[in-house]
Amino acid sequence: MPLISHPNLIVGIERSEDAGVYKLTEKLAIIQTLDFFTPIVDDPYDFGQIAATNSLSDVYAKGGIPITAMNIVCFPIKKMDINILREILRGGLDKMREASVVLVGGHSVDDNELKYGLSVTGLIHPKKVIMNNGAKPGDKLILTKKLGTGIISTGIKASEANKNTIKKVTQSMTTLNKAASEVMMSVGIHACTDVTGFGFLGHAAEMLTDTDNGMVIDSSMIPFFHEAKVLVDNGFLPGGLSRNRDFRKGMIDFGQDVPQYLRDILFDPQTSGGLLMAVAKTKATRLIDALHKAGVSNAAIVGEVVEKPKGKIIVR
Ligand code: CO
Ligand code: CO
Repeated sequence: MPLISHPNLIVGIERSEDAGVYKLTEKLAIIQTLDFFTPIVDDPYDFGQIAATNSLSDVYAKGGIPITAMNIVCFPIKKMDINILREILRGGLDKMREASVVLVGGHSVDDNELKYGLSVTGLIHPKKVIMNNGAKPGDKLILTKKLGTGIISTGIKASEANKNTIKKVTQSMTTLNKAASEVMMSVGIHACTDVTGFGFLGHAAEMLTDTDNGMVIDSSMIPFFHEAKVLVDNGFLPGGLSRNRDFRKGMIDFGQDVPQYLRDILFDPQTSGGLLMAVAKTKATRLIDALHKAGVSNAAIVGEVVEKPKGKIIVR
């Protein structure tokens, strides 16, 4: 793809960033992002909430405030009950309301496979944009949500997840990264991304792109759903998991004590996952305390940014 440059473009398509950012004035930039996907839970209202939460997440990862959104709908109009679509849209709308985001339009097409998501616009001060690769050696890494949603979604499709598990994972996927983002912006951080399809290690790897940094991850500190371990132990692995592993395996060194299920969970593609932040060592405790206080109860310090080995992630 040809490189696109413009004096007002702060984040474009050259790098694997979470959203595009364009400066409107010296004090104001817009953040633009879009995401949509096929259902990962059976309940249409829940799916709508999850898809909207996931779409809003990229704006929160950049430190911005989402303001407007548009629905993106692919729906098999001849095969499926229109009430399903109504429920999906109602779920999405409720999350937009919670985020104080205004729905301004949308587009729907007749498609064999149901898909839903949002295109979201947010605002930020041009100098306050958080990049995914701004971490510095010595920074602590903080993850704000449990891992394992992809594995559990696979379990749901195979009818191997019970009601309680579905409820827990849905609650996580419908939790906005709003509070986490507000807290990180008030404390001040160096880098952030949200953990989605490439899994924890895939997105951690993106944070190293174009930097001289490496990372050390303390696997014992990783928050994850215990139900995901049980499913992995029984062989339920999403297709995306092995693709994530193949793509990044050259960058990752696992210590021999890291159990196999945890290696899998670290590559598990997440939907509406948490934020992964890099914060100065001196602020890490303050940030973690503030996150917990704001209700981001699973937030944990999971590792640190190091100078060597450059471009590698050591998991121990
Ligand atoms: Co993202
Ligand atoms: Co995205």
